[in-house]
Amino acid sequence: MITWEELENAVSRCRACGLCRERHNTVFGVGNRKSKIMFVGEGPGYYEDMQGEPFVGAAGQLLDRMLGAVGLSRDEVYIANVVKCRPPKNRDPLPEEQEACLNFLRWQFVLLRPQIIVCLGRIAAKALITPDFSITKDRGKWYYKKGVQFTATFHPSALLRDESKKPFAWEDMKAIREKLDELEK
Ligand code: URA
Repeated sequence: MITWEELENAVSRCRACGLCRERHNTVFGVGNRKSKIMFVGEGPGYYEDMQGEPFVGAAGQLLDRMLGAVGLSRDEVYIANVVKCRPPKNRDPLPEEQEACLNFLRWQFVLLRPQIIVCLGRIAAKALITPDFSITKDRGKWYYKKGVQFTATFHPSALLRDESKKPFAWEDMKAIREKLDELEK
């Protein structure tokens, strides 16, 4: 069985796809390695690439507020991305880049053993729930797969672009909190 340290090391040395060429840092994941809940975004942006930590830019600050609104903090959850290196100009990660990176995320699931996985946005939901996932139609639904409850909500960057989506994300966050409380009972 691999350890967290071995996995993080393997990610830092990875050259399995072209994203390694322009990265400043790999962005492994952050948070509580005993958490029952994991949030998964799509991939690092500029600030994440510079700092080597997920969700530290504007979207990350909003994510912190979304967590705080339901009484959660960054230290109580685990946060990672589908791809661990920044796609140039923040474009969507290509299918082959996601494929090259997904085994790292799978190992993070094995080590963390979360009961809830929350996909932040379309890219993560398509990669982890189902390829035909529609973020507007299917967000907030629950999918039970291999002992884990999966759900998705809008990506914080989408909320920054379109404030009218915020009430839906708030609804989703409340339901996520309720599910977590239920599982902890
Ligand atoms: N957007 C993401 O999907 N992940 C990050 O880490 C930052 C922004």
